Amino acid sequence: MSTAPVVPNTPDIARLPVTLPQIAERKRLGEPIVMVTAYDHPSAQVAEQAGVDMVLVGDSAAMTVLGYPSTVPVSVDEMLMLAAAVRRGLRTPLLIGDLPFGSYEASDEQAVATAQRFVKEAGCDAVKLERGGSSVQRAAAIVAAGIPVMGHVGLTPQTATALGGYRAQARTAQRALALAHDARALEAAGCFSLVFEAIPAAVAGELMPLVGVPVIGIGAGRSTDGQVLVFHDLLGIHEGLTPRFVKRYAALKEEMVAGVRAYADDVRASRFPGPEHVYSIDPEELTELRAALAAYREPTAVAGTASGASGATEESAASSSGVSG
Ligand code: KIV
Repeated sequence: MSTAPVVPNTPDIARLPVTLPQIAERKRLGEPIVMVTAYDHPSAQVAEQAGVDMVLVGDSAAMTVLGYPSTVPVSVDEMLMLAAAVRRGLRTPLLIGDLPFGSYEASDEQAVATAQRFVKEAGCDAVKLERGGSSVQRAAAIVAAGIPVMGHVGLTPQTATALGGYRAQARTAQRALALAHDARALEAAGCFSLVFEAIPAAVAGELMPLVGVPVIGIGAGRSTDGQVLVFHDLLGIHEGLTPRFVKRYAALKEEMVAGVRAYADDVRASRFPGPEHVYSIDPEELTELRAALAAYREPTAVAGTASGASGATEESAASSSGVSG
């Protein structure tokens, strides 16, 4: 049993849901846009209460919560389950679902059908796809179907192998020009926003004046219109290699391990549960129960069978419905 989630859990119900025009306006006003990833109901509630502007159910979920070695294996169904959980914990930020590798590249029809599932089945406001090239046409098709699209250029983890691994991109003039071309093509295709990932800050600075839609950076310096970080990276939940562009704002993994270890120690030393964690029963009921159980143990007694069965049912119902007291 666990505590039942309170939905939506927001301290500030006066805050209205973030809209696409507001995101565009932020760029115009030069007000930094905050995006974070989330992959489940509790992380969505954290993002909601922290007051971020946009939440991305990134395919980084493949590595952060599903244990895959890269973002490539995650399926549409897995992403939809995570995105739907995030939706249930989110009220205000714009919710963007990441189209996983292999779910949009083959044709416009495939791209539109997958994007529609993110909107219909998971309640996403928008979708994100990676790369320029053929993705530009897919983005245009999804936009034409009425679904807002965020583009993603620079380091695109779905095709990291082709890019030579998880490394900074656009480090030559020619590659930076290619990135500029992709960014402008995605904007022309109707993308409402772009992600620039892992490119030199100076390159981002040169490209920003060429892009009319809000650019969210991750490892692209300060000149972008906003920033995004992976939830598990910024809170120190995820172990493994930490990219240069990550700033850790907490070390939750250590706290979580310490908490579970303290619980295990308490159980092994019979310190948990304590008197404050147990349910009570009226002493008279207990006396009656003991008498009935004594009769039940008599080899000839059969009368106790029915009451024994109903007692078990009552107890299990209470524990699964969260009854307290
Ligand atoms: O999948 C993801 O989390 C992302 C962000 C890093 C932009 O694509």
